[in-house]
Amino acid sequence: MITVNNLSLQFGKRVLFDDVNLKFVQGNCYGVIGANGAGKSTFLKIMTGHQDPTKGRIELEPGKRMAVLSQNHFEFDKCQVLHTVMMGHKRLYEIMIEKDALYAKEDFSEADGMKASELEGEFADLEGWNAETDAASLLSNLGIEEASHYLLLEELPNNLKVRVLLAQALFGNPDVLVLDEPTNDLDGKTITWLEDFLLDFKNTVIVVSHDRHFLDTVCTHICDIDFSKINIYTGNYSFWYQSSQLALRQRADKNKKAEEKKKELQDFISRFSANASKSKQATSRRKMIDKLDIEEIQASSRRYPGITFHQERDAGNQILSVDNLSKSYEGEVLFKDITFTLNKGDKVAIVSNNSLAITTFFEVLNRNMNADNGEFIFGTTIITAYLPNDNHSYFDSDLSLIQWLRQYANTDEEKEEVNLRGFLGRMLFSGEEALKSAKVLSGGEKVRCMLSKVMFAKANVLMMDEPTNHLDLESITALNNGMIEFGGSLMFTSHDQELVKTVANRVIEITPNGVIDKMMPYDEYIKDEKILQLQTEMYA
Ligand SMILES: Nc1ncnc2c1ncn2[C@@H]1O[C@H](COP(=O)(O)OP(=O)(O)OP(=O)(O)O)[C@@H](O)[C@H]1O
Ligand SMILES: [Mg+2]
Repeated sequence: MITVNNLSLQFGKRVLFDDVNLKFVQGNCYGVIGANGAGKSTFLKIMTGHQDPTKGRIELEPGKRMAVLSQNHFEFDKCQVLHTVMMGHKRLYEIMIEKDALYAKEDFSEADGMKASELEGEFADLEGWNAETDAASLLSNLGIEEASHYLLLEELPNNLKVRVLLAQALFGNPDVLVLDEPTNDLDGKTITWLEDFLLDFKNTVIVVSHDRHFLDTVCTHICDIDFSKINIYTGNYSFWYQSSQLALRQRADKNKKAEEKKKELQDFISRFSANASKSKQATSRRKMIDKLDIEEIQASSRRYPGITFHQERDAGNQILSVDNLSKSYEGEVLFKDITFTLNKGDKVAIVSNNSLAITTFFEVLNRNMNADNGEFIFGTTIITAYLPNDNHSYFDSDLSLIQWLRQYANTDEEKEEVNLRGFLGRMLFSGEEALKSAKVLSGGEKVRCMLSKVMFAKANVLMMDEPTNHLDLESITALNNGMIEFGGSLMFTSHDQELVKTVANRVIEITPNGVIDKMMPYDEYIKDEKILQLQTEMYA
């Protein structure tokens, strides 16, 4: 139902796609994977008509409707929440606007009457009378309370904003649903909700994600973008990963006979198919994985950035003390009476059942917001660095990457082009790439730049709010190691369980009734019965 014909795209010397031919079939769920900057978002932009290819085209079957959740979460900031959702069905929304304008006319003519009844007919056909209730119930399903439905999108915190945009994409049951990294900024509960929704969704889904668990749960097919090509494989992410590893090993093993190789592959496929058919995915998706096939799989071109956090100087004994810090938002208590002392070498996972509370807490500690009550003080030897959840304001600029990074260099030596180039090279922007404008960066490339800024600060206290958002698996691994090896103190929050489990040696939970503060790894924290009891009381 979607055909990609001879598609090529080039930015300057950089070839993103070279003569790609593909078909997306009705009813399947395609997971689009690839390194940061491989061209996933760009591919979706071509598909939705927001970017022209250099050559070739992508065609949607006539009469079918496509809806999209983009990676940019700020586009609808000036729109009302409920309207934003209904805008998901473009034609329906147009009719609503046209109708309202007609009925508001003082000199309502006969022709206007005809036009109005025509619009009413189309409106009814599109089930327009249910639009508002449908939109409202989608929002409620996603945990957005009625009081927020009439606010502007920009008045919502980031995590809720994404849910509204998700509701917009889901609104009116599109034939093709295109989602670019939908799980970024969603909490675990909402991710599960989205997984269930996609499993029951009867139409075609094309979804970009770096989240292995999510991809495994929802996908029937994997689209891998690498080497300027896009290849579609049947099966979920694990199947793609295992089979590509197996194919690589076999290719290395030149002495093995062709028949032996073939048998090994077939055994693997039948074992995998047996498991797959027992999974929830196979039962709830109409389309079963009936035919698994290993095609030519190349060694991946994905690379690891170098992420190391050095300290300019060791911290003294006074790091940070937080005293009775409290903050409310729109009448809701986000956190109250937060008191703790940060020690040397503490790697603190900040947790809460409300992600806005955590983001606000970090914003207060970095003096971008004021607390309602209480205070905090960093020691005199402390240099802080902060990786915010929302980085879009840093990239609204025409600076080249070299110029962009130079803003955060401290010494003349650091500011020299050769140094900056070396640094950018380690962060996987080499040659011409270092000259491109900061504005065109992909989601993950922006985070790599923000991490460079943090590294330049040579801080002894780091604060990071969802640092793995947008990053590919290679960059997540590099970041994870960098955080483990960092010698200073660290406060961070992440939905990536693996990261939290391997980095944190202390957990601080900020609640509307004070802190739960435990010197223990995250694994122990979530299993502790007493803590569970405490949580029930403190969020009550
Ligand atoms: N107008 C442009 N001019 C030059 N380069 C561009 C332009 N638009 C995008 N790019 C580059 O094309 C590459 C692909 O970008 P895209 O946003 O599609 O990546 P992505 O696969 O979605 O990555 P991520 O996982 O980080 O979101 C990036 O390196 C980006 O910097
Ligand atoms: Mg992208």
